[in-house]
Amino acid sequence: MNTRKTLYVKDNDLYIGAFKATELAKKFGTPLYVMDAAYIREVSDAFVAAVNKCGRGAVAFANKAFATVATAKLAAAHGLWFDVVSGGELFMVKRAGADMKKVLFHGNNKTPREIDEALDAGIGFFVIDSLNELELLDKKAGERGVRQDVLVRINPGVSAHTFEAVMTAAPFSKFGFDVHGDAFDVIRDIASRDNLNFRGLHAHIGSQIYEASSYEKAIDITVDLAGRLAEAGIVCDILDMGGGYGIYYTDKDPKFTPSAYAATVENVARRVAEKSAERGLAAPFLIVEPGRSIVGEAGVTLYTVGAIKDFPGVKKYVAVDGGMFDNPRYALYESEYSAVIAGKASEPASEVVTVAGKCCESGDLIGKDMPLQHAETGDILAVFSTGAYNYSMASNYNLNAIPPVVLVDGDRADYIVKAQTYDDLLRNNTVPEWLN
Ligand SMILES: Cc1ncc(COP(=O)(O)O)c(C=O)c1O
Repeated sequence: MNTRKTLYVKDNDLYIGAFKATELAKKFGTPLYVMDAAYIREVSDAFVAAVNKCGRGAVAFANKAFATVATAKLAAAHGLWFDVVSGGELFMVKRAGADMKKVLFHGNNKTPREIDEALDAGIGFFVIDSLNELELLDKKAGERGVRQDVLVRINPGVSAHTFEAVMTAAPFSKFGFDVHGDAFDVIRDIASRDNLNFRGLHAHIGSQIYEASSYEKAIDITVDLAGRLAEAGIVCDILDMGGGYGIYYTDKDPKFTPSAYAATVENVARRVAEKSAERGLAAPFLIVEPGRSIVGEAGVTLYTVGAIKDFPGVKKYVAVDGGMFDNPRYALYESEYSAVIAGKASEPASEVVTVAGKCCESGDLIGKDMPLQHAETGDILAVFSTGAYNYSMASNYNLNAIPPVVLVDGDRADYIVKAQTYDDLLRNNTVPEWLN
């Protein structure tokens, strides 16, 4: 557990803001996603201050980590831009009142409809990721008489030390143009088009990255490309170095703090400035795109313990009322989490258990071999660091309702996503006339 002012244990109880986790569970029910507004603010401010300290730049929140209107409003109020990857995310940030000029549209296969929607919304930047997109965007911008600002996603070919599915810049990735292959020629082509305004480069090497060296390699390769483009008369005024900053899940991970993130961003900015100077380039406008690091540790999921199955000396299952429908990350990546029994939080973690979900899959686990206080049916289990890629990846598998989300802000707690009802689960079901 990575405690802080708004996540702590007092008298055997876990607290989030001013609330006992058990009180939140009682008031709002379980399973329940709880998000801590104070942490989101604090990390956002740290990122923004670090970028501002270093010169020109912006912090774009990667909505894919956690996309709700309320948290987008919070993020915008703290100066964050937005990275969106679908028409749905674009619709959401519009609803949150975001400044469209501060929106970047990513994605390796933006649909024609999404391109239309983003052009009509007047977003700041498309991050071009394929030749198909290049042609389509050029045509559609031309039809509207618009000269659209674009970045180009490059694949710097850096293998970040992370899980394969969240590694995005290894050779032959589905993302971006190969920096050692077609990237230069594609950018030269874009720079020659009337309807596209080439502004710079984007590289995102993966997620849950701890080593500064991975970022450094990616920066060096990206700035080198900017240098080669400059020699050809093409200016890269913007470098977007993506997100990927690691967070604390278990004691195997470093315990990050907002100031640690600020220091990492300052190092990124320094490296970009130094390498640019070495190539005789002006320091670019720097964008970073954190997702997980802004919302991940802000989130705690609360469950009620149900069935307990003990195979003495072999394995003990503690089953909860959630599972892969609210947190698919174990099933996808065997991701590890830490947890406590919320009302026994000061007691020693005397058992090692497998926390199972309630879905009809043996792989539906929250975690294996998790140290935990002695659990009894009816206890509230709190799983930490679930703010990123849990709600945003949730599903209705087995027709389980996606849990509601409650935002805690000091002594206030309110829904930001309401509970789904059984009717919600069937809302889009229809039965053709000919079946009746
Ligand atoms: C282009 C891009 N930017 C930013 C992010 C955010 O990464 P993270 O949540 O690890 O910070 C991602 C994640 O997949 C991404 O693909």
